Amino acid sequence: MRSPMAFKKECLIAGLIIGLIIGCMLSFIVMGREVDELRNQVSRLRAEIEQLRGVVPPLRTLAEKHGIHIGAAVEANLLRIKEYAEILSREFNVLTTENALKFERVHPERNVYSFSEADAIISFAEANGMRVRGHTLVWHNQLPEWVTRGNYSREEWISILRDHITTVVSRYRGRVYAWDVVNEAVDEDGSLRKTVWLQNIGPEYIELAFKWAHEADPQALLFYNDYGAEGLGVKSDAVYNLVKSLVEKGVPIHGVGLQMHVSTEYYPAPQDIAANIKRLSDLGLEIHVTEMDVRLRLPAKPADLVRQAEIYRDVLMVCLSSEKCTAFVMWGFTDRYSWIPGFFSGYGSALIFDENYDPKPAYYYILKSLMSR
Ligand code: G3I
Repeated sequence: MRSPMAFKKECLIAGLIIGLIIGCMLSFIVMGREVDELRNQVSRLRAEIEQLRGVVPPLRTLAEKHGIHIGAAVEANLLRIKEYAEILSREFNVLTTENALKFERVHPERNVYSFSEADAIISFAEANGMRVRGHTLVWHNQLPEWVTRGNYSREEWISILRDHITTVVSRYRGRVYAWDVVNEAVDEDGSLRKTVWLQNIGPEYIELAFKWAHEADPQALLFYNDYGAEGLGVKSDAVYNLVKSLVEKGVPIHGVGLQMHVSTEYYPAPQDIAANIKRLSDLGLEIHVTEMDVRLRLPAKPADLVRQAEIYRDVLMVCLSSEKCTAFVMWGFTDRYSWIPGFFSGYGSALIFDENYDPKPAYYYILKSLMSR
């Protein structure tokens, strides 16, 4: 066991080295040298970083010292890949189920549940001392046909949703520490999204979902999760008003998830994210950054990789400066497996490790931010 002084000293040394490295990378970019030369330089620096592995702590160790969790969304089938599993367990202390707990995966037929993928992720997390965020109980996407094509009475819709939530949450009671109970219920214009749940149950489906989840696991932290509501604006006002009304009614909601799918072309101003986090935390709610990625136009240029790193750093720094922001989760960690290229044509390179599992500038900026206080 190292003494706190020794640890501090190591952090300081590592901080200086990393500062130097990033400085070198930046000056290379500023000097506008050839891309090949930059690549060689980056490879050499990476090799040096690898040698420093024993000195530079992994992200999760540093995050723990700030009292936050740092993590990534994962798919169960990828846990069998050695490099994927090694980086995950080394760097992160919270995992989110990217698709494994979505309605169509976990509850494909009315009387059939399929838990094997979620079980694998949760067992992996437990074996590696990580927490799990369960994503997601109520959403309008990735629903099975027996739900989307069903012709049920309102009572049946209520009973379908209640059974789903109760079964899934009860199974993982005490093992999933936070749930995205309701996902993306607010539309771009601030109105409630016209989902099957709204249309068949009515707006009270939201509070019912939180109530059933709380009954199934009273210790779990229950979140409302959405995109495009990270900074200030019509949608984030609507999300704020929604969760405020839930809190005022005594609905068991404990937090808000800010998804943070952004790009170097569009991202909310850090001061707006800070103001939003402040007003949400004034309601007594916790904040998790739940799905961060920063997509780039491909092929990614060195300057874009640095800009991307700055955006990751800025969001993390805003989170670290609020006591109520307690998790920083990315939507994956390696560009080898990311939803972006499949959904945004011409874009990719959105995560902090590249397709070969090498850390990108964003990784070092995050590391440096976590070392900075
Ligand atoms: O698993 C099937 C496979 O069997 C089939 O052959 C293949 C053919 O298309 O599809 C596979 O399923 C895909 C699945 O991802 C797993 O890769 C679905 O088509 C695809 O639609 C699905 O996309 C997911 C997307 O949500 C659906 O909206 C992404 O992986 C997932 O990252 C993404 O996550 C969402 C969050 O849940 C909520 N916030 C936004 C975020 C990004 O869209």
